[in-house]
Amino acid sequence: MLLPTSSSTAVVVVFWFASVLICCFPRVLHARVGYGYSLSSLKELPDGGGLLGYLQIKTSTTTYGSDVPNLKLFVKHESGDRLRIHITDADKERWEVPYDLLPREKVPGAGTGREQNHHEYTGGSGTRLVFGYTNDPFGFSVRRKSDGEVLFNSSSSSSSSGDLFGPMVFKDQYLEISTTLPASAALYGLGENTQPGGIRIRPNDPYTLYTNDVSAIKLNTDLYGSHPFYMDVRKIGGEGASAHGVLLLNSNGMDVFYRGDSLTYKIIGGVFDFYFFAGTTPLEVVDQYTTLIGRPAAMPYWAFGFHQCRWGYKNLSVVEAVVEGYRQAKIPLDVIWNDDDHMIAHRDFTLNPVNYPRPKLLEFLTKIHALGMKYIVINDPGIAVDPNYDVYRRAMEQDIFIKHDGKPYLAQVWPGPVYFPDFLNPRSASWWIDEIERFHRLVPIDGLWIDMNEASNFCTGDCKLPTTHSCPIPGNEKPWICCLDCKNITNTRWDDPPYKINVSGIGAPLGYKTIATSAEHYNGILEYNAHSIYGLSEAVVTHRALQGLKGKRPFVLTRSTFVGSGKYAAHWTGDNQGDWKNLRYSISTMLNYGMFGMPMVGSDICGFYPQPTEELCNRWIQLGAFYPFSRDHANFHSPRQELYVWNTVAESARNALGLRYKLLPYLYTLNYDAHVSGAPLARPVFFSFPNFTKGYELTTQFLLGESIMVSPVLKKQSTVVKVLFPPGSWYNMFDMTKVVLPKDDRYITLDAPWNEINVHLYQNTIIPMQEGGLRSKDARKTPFTIVVAFPLKAETAEAVGKVFVDDDESTEMELADGKSTLVVFRASLDGGKVRVWSDVKMGAFAREKGFIIGTVRVLGLESTGISNAVEIKIDGEVSKDIENVRFVSSGLAETTKLEGDTKKRVTVVDVTGLGLPLGKKFSMTWQMGVQ
Ligand code: GLC
Repeated sequence: MLLPTSSSTAVVVVFWFASVLICCFPRVLHARVGYGYSLSSLKELPDGGGLLGYLQIKTSTTTYGSDVPNLKLFVKHESGDRLRIHITDADKERWEVPYDLLPREKVPGAGTGREQNHHEYTGGSGTRLVFGYTNDPFGFSVRRKSDGEVLFNSSSSSSSSGDLFGPMVFKDQYLEISTTLPASAALYGLGENTQPGGIRIRPNDPYTLYTNDVSAIKLNTDLYGSHPFYMDVRKIGGEGASAHGVLLLNSNGMDVFYRGDSLTYKIIGGVFDFYFFAGTTPLEVVDQYTTLIGRPAAMPYWAFGFHQCRWGYKNLSVVEAVVEGYRQAKIPLDVIWNDDDHMIAHRDFTLNPVNYPRPKLLEFLTKIHALGMKYIVINDPGIAVDPNYDVYRRAMEQDIFIKHDGKPYLAQVWPGPVYFPDFLNPRSASWWIDEIERFHRLVPIDGLWIDMNEASNFCTGDCKLPTTHSCPIPGNEKPWICCLDCKNITNTRWDDPPYKINVSGIGAPLGYKTIATSAEHYNGILEYNAHSIYGLSEAVVTHRALQGLKGKRPFVLTRSTFVGSGKYAAHWTGDNQGDWKNLRYSISTMLNYGMFGMPMVGSDICGFYPQPTEELCNRWIQLGAFYPFSRDHANFHSPRQELYVWNTVAESARNALGLRYKLLPYLYTLNYDAHVSGAPLARPVFFSFPNFTKGYELTTQFLLGESIMVSPVLKKQSTVVKVLFPPGSWYNMFDMTKVVLPKDDRYITLDAPWNEINVHLYQNTIIPMQEGGLRSKDARKTPFTIVVAFPLKAETAEAVGKVFVDDDESTEMELADGKSTLVVFRASLDGGKVRVWSDVKMGAFAREKGFIIGTVRVLGLESTGISNAVEIKIDGEVSKDIENVRFVSSGLAETTKLEGDTKKRVTVVDVTGLGLPLGKKFSMTWQMGVQ
């Protein structure tokens, strides 16, 4: 919600100037920052325990503080695909991301082993990466064995235009390290950041990682999350493309500079804890990354339905009317949300008895729950300071607030003066879980939305309750203006460190509109170090609380995120604007979050801030219907923007969400894939087509899973859309008789009438669909259609796909007998003979649920003539029950000349009237071309 206000402009300008001087002329200044280290010893620990070495400073400098004289180096191939390089102070323990928050292997304190001086370390035959090093100055490289490609090289390097970067620097409050990069490397990640240039990281765009309540409208700025991870995709020589990943696991604020030929990290604390992921496909990189940081949380089935929210649903009748509005307009809706309107004076865990009388609310919830709908409310971490407020009182008794100078740190958020719970304190967890349980007894919510957890503070510095006015100011129309009495804190090295990262994109002080960085958490942990993990620590505990409630799969939506947050929560991209640019930006942030291991993501559909036009909202729901997390949300200043408000928007919503609801089994299977392998739901096109280099920057289209491509209209007053198609046959998901056959890698202009979005299905794919409905619960009960897409008019072809089903919301999402079923579909085409069959794993669950395949649809066949002599086998037995089976063919291909065109109409063959149990193996065969 917050943008910087003019009151702090002077401070900000000074900081900004200083940081520009320091940050933007590294080629000139680096020499004074450090002269590097030399390697004094290196040992190979026994039993594949890794390498342990010691480094000594060469020449000390005082810029940004004095150097840490002795460093400890630890290198280990933690798996065949993952290499870790850890460098810290040899003499003193330093801050690291807590091992209990992000579980991972420990670094040994000391050890004995064999002297190592080969300048290379492969770690054995099963590893895919090689660690190389130079002794003096110390530098390291990481090379992939299979192709010899150097992925990272920190040895200081020069080019004709001067030094690229200097040697590694390690001071208490300033760490610097760089790598050379080939100009052809395509880099992705480093967020959270709204990237106007699309997903590919552009040279010289600023990347500052530090969690902040800065609205997503602000470009190239450190937003709500911190993810020091990037994926690097390279086309190596004439070879296919290879991807790898690099994580610098560090929670301190940092600036990252990418200059096209190098990348430099400048970090204000912690350690170097690098993890390299060998790839080589983008999906493998995400798999390897999420093996380390935790797999994405399994989402309940209903979470893939449509969500409606608004800040400003003043009372329950308004909420009821919204649900009714959706029903009447026949627009799907699964989840209705409350922002803080249900609360008393914006206080967590309260219910306003006047506007949201409990008996009426319970009645409403019973009604919507019976329909399968769900209800979610917001919760902010700031607890109102008021001894008469039970939640506050219990927290004080437990002594769990973050402290400054020994007292709870006073801040201001929506309720007015607040203290922040310290989620790193184990007592906080039990207090928070207890509060959630109490609230759940009051209001049976189905999920929680944790907001403002960067943490956002409307004030800065050391604040006191004012003596001259009340705070919050009654009736204040701008409750986000600070009403506490505050003074800046500049006298500690934590509030005012020697190196200034570019906070909030304006070089603001570290504590700007957040918790003062000299404040302390449990065990003396400094906010300076733990700032960016606040949202993660809250998500962990909130997830645990919800899990305990009903033994059901939790749904948590969080604004602030860090490495590993995806294991606990979904994310929305925060406060955006209802304009065309923000519509476009939403795609790159969504795709980045897929790579960050947090694939359940979406933006506020139609925009949070005032005010979308009907046309924009119309196009936004067309895109938003294919966000993994699909929610319309707006600020109370905005006019109402529920999807039924405008007729055109309603029409688009019925179309686009109509398709989404038919695709729910596909989305849910992607959810399963994400949970077991990290695979993002929404993916950049290069994920499936890594050799299609034109797709490297593509951010106007994206994939859902491997093979559904979404190409929204992102421009005003446009009824066409230009789409780049990788080679192959692409079938229109709304009208499968339409196919696009790209002849080369040029953009193809497609019609995009007001109420239509282009969504295409790629060849060689099989997808599960159902019949849709207005709620996921109802859609779930309908028969399946299995859609097989062959390349158009192929002589021989194969296709594959799958579906995962379980009870939709049990805590574990796993393949287990009696609890879930995984069906792999396969199809082949050979000289007009079509075969479609399934392999079933753990079929009992699907059989018991009675899931049925009603139709098999085949795309891409040449002939419309069909032999009715279809043979169907179920579990190997020929099925006699085929009298209802019909072949229906659109028959259009016969009349369409195919050569030379790019857009076609083609045959669609439906085999209908089937009653195949999903949980049993089937095969069906028929011959085309016989009339
Ligand atoms: C923040 C959130 C926004 C929410 C508002 C009020 O600005 O980002 O989504 O509506 O707070 O709770």
